[in-house]
Amino acid sequence: MTATLPDRSVVPPVWGRIFNIAVDHGEGSWLVTTDGERYLDYTSGIGVTNTGHAHPRVVKAVQDQAAKLLHGQQNIVYHEPGLRLYERVATLLPGGPWSAFLSNSGAEAVEAAVKLARVATGRPVIIGFRYSFHGRIGNAMALTAAKDVYRAAFEPLPGSIYHTAYPYCYRASGGAHDPAACTCDWEEQLDLLFHQMIYPEKVAAIIVEPVMGEGGYLVPPPDFLPRLRELTRKHGILLIADEVQTGFGRTGEIFAVRHWDVEPDILVMAKGIASGLPLSGIIARREIMDKWPVSSHGGTYGGNVVSCAAANATLDVIESEDLVANARARGDQFLAGLRALAAKHPAIGDVRGLGLMVALEFVKPGEGDGRVPDSALTKRVQAACFNRKLMLLTAGTNVNVVRIIPPLVTTEAEVDQALAIIGEALVEAGA
Ligand SMILES: Cc1ncc(COP(=O)(O)O)c(C=O)c1O
Repeated sequence: MTATLPDRSVVPPVWGRIFNIAVDHGEGSWLVTTDGERYLDYTSGIGVTNTGHAHPRVVKAVQDQAAKLLHGQQNIVYHEPGLRLYERVATLLPGGPWSAFLSNSGAEAVEAAVKLARVATGRPVIIGFRYSFHGRIGNAMALTAAKDVYRAAFEPLPGSIYHTAYPYCYRASGGAHDPAACTCDWEEQLDLLFHQMIYPEKVAAIIVEPVMGEGGYLVPPPDFLPRLRELTRKHGILLIADEVQTGFGRTGEIFAVRHWDVEPDILVMAKGIASGLPLSGIIARREIMDKWPVSSHGGTYGGNVVSCAAANATLDVIESEDLVANARARGDQFLAGLRALAAKHPAIGDVRGLGLMVALEFVKPGEGDGRVPDSALTKRVQAACFNRKLMLLTAGTNVNVVRIIPPLVTTEAEVDQALAIIGEALVEAGA
């Protein structure tokens, strides 16, 4: 089969490639190459395959729907999978009443959230956080501040977008500290922004990833989101939770904001929603959604009928297999195992995570203040894991974080296997 495939150079280099393998199929936590090699996929296709690869219930729902209707455009007709999904996602958050809007990709849903926030408040400005990732187009790209590569070559960027400090406790200027006793000055920095750059009454929304993803898997201190909610309310600013990566059980709650009992005004969702089919959306308080003038936003493919069928099946699987609880249990197992490894490897500067969003941050022990990022070591650890058939991604502005994003169906035995591989890889990489 491989001999008949076109040369890999047909794919443009802009698709930077992490692993040089061609996959044939996937099963649960595993990817199988065209040569029959099996890899433990703890990338989940960047946090998408929460129900595992090719979950039979999701596959069946897709097959059944594809045989009936592939496209039922949302401005033109209603369809059953869409109606069911709209109703269902609007019940995933407490409080409300909520209303949903469906689109295709994470970035597109961020754009929808920005447009809705502006139109609902009549205010122009959106504030994002340093280290955040929201997407690669338009306002989402301008809001992204995780790495220069995502934005720096594309000036001019959309305006009326500002950034403020995020409480990155391990890298705080005053020294690394326990998030439970956070001394980061994020609130003072936001206040400075309001006094130096923009009036709060001009701000439509602040957008935040409840757990920072691409920026380094940063779990915020316990008071951060509740206090941000208070501050946004005080100034009449909407709070947008970007749950594209944290959603659908990933952190051990269906949405991560529920860890802190914080109610956003708009929640952005994608990735895990449909087990791999392109689908995204926002959930907004109904009175906000109702302010969006008819036909002022939309798109040809948003809420595709096959994707909606996949999403309904995905939610069935998450509920019936109790994947949210498994994310919590396997996440605790991972954190305990990684902390034991950190005790033996001084190059592991920090271990952190929430549910099945876990990470190791690598530093050069004995250099500088002990927190000098070690990107080369991070890549060696990733490569040594890959040689042992474990696929992991990196993250962080300095690419010195290994992030672990298993499917939520992963088993205790698989996590033990991954921990053993990481342990060997750390030794081989010289951590
Ligand atoms: C938090 C967050 N928001 C937005 C996006 C953009 O999603 P997409 O790549 O589907 O446009 C991502 C993608 O990684 C993400 O992690």
